[in-house]
Amino acid sequence: MKEFDEYIAMVNQAIATLKLPAQPAGLYDPIRYTLDCGGKRLRPVLTLAACQAMGKDPMTAIHQAIAIEMFHNFTLLHDDVMDNADVRRGRPTVHKRWNMETAILSGDAMLTTSTMLLSIKAGEHLASALDLFNGTAMNIYEGQQYDMDFEKRLDVTVEEYMEMIRLKTSVLLGCACGMGALMAGSDFDSQLQFFNYGVNLGLAFQLQDDYLDTYGNPETFGKAIGGDILNDKKTWLLIMALREDESGTVKNLIGNNDNPDEKIRKVREIYDSLGLPDRIHELIRAYIDSAISCLDQLNIMPEAREFFIDLALKSATRNK
Ligand code: IPE
Ligand code: IPE
Ligand code: MG
Ligand code: MG
Ligand code: MG
Repeated sequence: MKEFDEYIAMVNQAIATLKLPAQPAGLYDPIRYTLDCGGKRLRPVLTLAACQAMGKDPMTAIHQAIAIEMFHNFTLLHDDVMDNADVRRGRPTVHKRWNMETAILSGDAMLTTSTMLLSIKAGEHLASALDLFNGTAMNIYEGQQYDMDFEKRLDVTVEEYMEMIRLKTSVLLGCACGMGALMAGSDFDSQLQFFNYGVNLGLAFQLQDDYLDTYGNPETFGKAIGGDILNDKKTWLLIMALREDESGTVKNLIGNNDNPDEKIRKVREIYDSLGLPDRIHELIRAYIDSAISCLDQLNIMPEAREFFIDLALKSATRNK
């Protein structure tokens, strides 16, 4: 196995050699801007590492890895329009730097580019890779729709929330892992176990994202803090607060953005008073443990196991 940073270097190298046309600049510049400005590269690293864990050269899955990263970045362009988010990775979002039309169309081009990349050197795995990829994409759109539907509801349950984040976020991490195993030519059961590892990791990952949206440091996190509260996103934190806040403060603040800073401060105060920061971390830890237990079913070398355990533990405590 390689170090996490070595896989990142392989991903960045492959992205750098993508030959995006110069013109029309209005279409391609925002794509270059998005791909150039960092990101943790978690998903493509999962693909390369899973491929290597199953005994193949990680470069076997490089096109599929960057296809998934390209797809992820496409979802971010559209997500930032939907969430009315101004900052990502410490820089203005595409719809702010350019405009909404640009975010839509450059996003579309990224989506198509991602499917083109996916089929490169997929060989005998092409049909399965496309099935996995397209099924995942549909799940993400469903999850994003639930995410928006839930903004308008007060009675969202924890179960509904968990299903929504499984769809919008976790399956892509599952797909990234499963894709690496698939490209390595491993049996379906191993692909499935890797997929399940990724899904559990993804649940923990989105819970931590929601935590950071309220409690993160904007400098490190790279996004504005409090966006979920202002959008009335039914995060685990807000669902618990709606259920347990007897003062009714949280309920009264929903749908009212007259004083945004005050709203964020008050909602966070309630979260604190209910001990939600510690409680969400217990839940995150439980999903990390579930992810790690999926590794028990996999026939991989101890150093590969260590890699995926380490990655899961780091994701649970990440601050960016
Ligand atoms: C952001 O994903 C969207 C979520 C699923 C929370 P990342 O936090 O992986 O974003 P980048 O690619 O590292 O910026
Ligand atoms: C991420 O949800 C899901 C997708 C982008 C598909 P968020 O809306 O929480 O992601 P961030 O916080 O904007 O990165
Ligand atoms: Mg968002
Ligand atoms: Mg969103
Ligand atoms: Mg978020």
